[in-house]
Amino acid sequence: MILPNGTSPLGEGFVDVEELQLEPTDRRTTLMKAVVWHGKRDVRVDTVPDPIIQEPTDAIVRITSSGICGSDLHPYEVLVMFMEEGDILGHEPMGIVEEVGSEVAHIAAGDRVVIPFNISCGHCFMCDRQLYAQCETTQVRSEGKGAALYGYTKLYGRVPGAQAEYLRVPQAQFGPIKVPEGPPDDRFVYLSDVLPTAWQAVVFADIPDGGSVAVFGLGPIGQMCARIAMHRGAGRVIGVDLVPERLEMARLSGVDVLDLNEYDDIGDAVRGLTNGRGADSVIDAVGMEAHGSPIPQAMQKGASLLPDPLAQKMIERAGVDRLAALWASIDAVRRGGTLSLSGVYGGMADPLPMLDLFDKGVQIRMGQAHVRRWVDDILPLLAGDGDPLGVDDFATHHMPLEEAPLSYEIFQKKQEGAIKILLQP
Ligand SMILES: NC(=O)c1ccc[n+]([C@@H]2O[C@H](COP(=O)([O-])OP(=O)(O)OC[C@H]3O[C@@H](n4cnc5c(N)ncnc54)[C@H](O)[C@@H]3O)[C@@H](O)[C@H]2O)c1
Ligand SMILES: [Zn+2]
Ligand SMILES: [Zn+2]
Repeated sequence: MILPNGTSPLGEGFVDVEELQLEPTDRRTTLMKAVVWHGKRDVRVDTVPDPIIQEPTDAIVRITSSGICGSDLHPYEVLVMFMEEGDILGHEPMGIVEEVGSEVAHIAAGDRVVIPFNISCGHCFMCDRQLYAQCETTQVRSEGKGAALYGYTKLYGRVPGAQAEYLRVPQAQFGPIKVPEGPPDDRFVYLSDVLPTAWQAVVFADIPDGGSVAVFGLGPIGQMCARIAMHRGAGRVIGVDLVPERLEMARLSGVDVLDLNEYDDIGDAVRGLTNGRGADSVIDAVGMEAHGSPIPQAMQKGASLLPDPLAQKMIERAGVDRLAALWASIDAVRRGGTLSLSGVYGGMADPLPMLDLFDKGVQIRMGQAHVRRWVDDILPLLAGDGDPLGVDDFATHHMPLEEAPLSYEIFQKKQEGAIKILLQP
């Protein structure tokens, strides 16, 4: 098994665990189940060695729930050239602390914790500014990227992921969020990614009090963006998608939904609901795999068939993102409005309508969520008896870890009503 090497917290290359030359007594002899990437659309549940404490700042957590995210679909389908067979996927976990390193003080064995998807130290230049997704301690400098992430391609450090029975948590002196005993995991697990990502998207969207926001994409992120926007005082929330049960879920929470399939010009449809101007703010919660982008879709497919080095260059140098949702978002925002991107994009030379962006005076904010930054805002909404964000029945599926291959398939193909799936090891 490949693990991050012992000299750096993360990111400076990886060594085989055999080369760590640990005493046999330091090595766990036990094995665990984990969701392992084998190739495009090929994930399997394999038996791999348990993770072990390697740094005094590590913790080992026994995972009780682990989400499957839209972000997991990128290595599953498009970013295959940045993956290696054997990589463990997953970045939305919670569980019980099993063991902590000597420098981890705020949590102890037996504590119930949620683990943020980005790995941050809490004390560097970036973390001091709450830019946790840019942590300089875990930045993946070899790839020119920000903070390391669990289970997410070599671009983000090839850190073994969280769809597994156990997870090694680096920088555990800062990352894990202690949550109370009692309610089911569903109450807290979305603190790892979905809720802070949606919260940041809404804050970045800068919706005027009582103003309008259009949310493109009603996957888990878009659903929560809509709910949080309402909670924070948006006057009108418009949601755009093309999957009936996703539109219905949003409609039930008070969103004015637009089915992409029913409009030739979705920008006009949004303007039709916003006094002809367009929405004050637009959130793109779709990202690089947007439906309705035929040419880049073919390029993505082509890239995923090329030998890895060529494919990596193509993805990094060329415009291979499917931009339908981004272009529609730019069209749907009003003049002087704000565009907030939480959908992930990866092309280095994507064509953008600079004329429209500049002429309309659009402000744009984006990026990976700085998870810990928003936790204090969100926790009170999860703590009481009420459930203002509707997390308790948000998951459409709870599946055993063994069923990860099927779970990935139905989530990607949007079958069996799958909107949010939690794997439960
Ligand atoms: N910024 C971050 O930190 C962060 C964190 C988590 C997820 N993400 C990203 O957010 C995006 C959404 O994640 P998710 O888990 O909700 O994924 P998802 O794949 O379930 O949701 C995407 C939704 O967009 C819809 N869609 C596709 N094309 C569309 C179009 N042209 N117009 C409108 N809707 C369209 C799909 O039907 C789907 O419902 C992904 O790109 C994911 O990688 C970013
Ligand atoms: Zn996620
Ligand atoms: Zn840091």
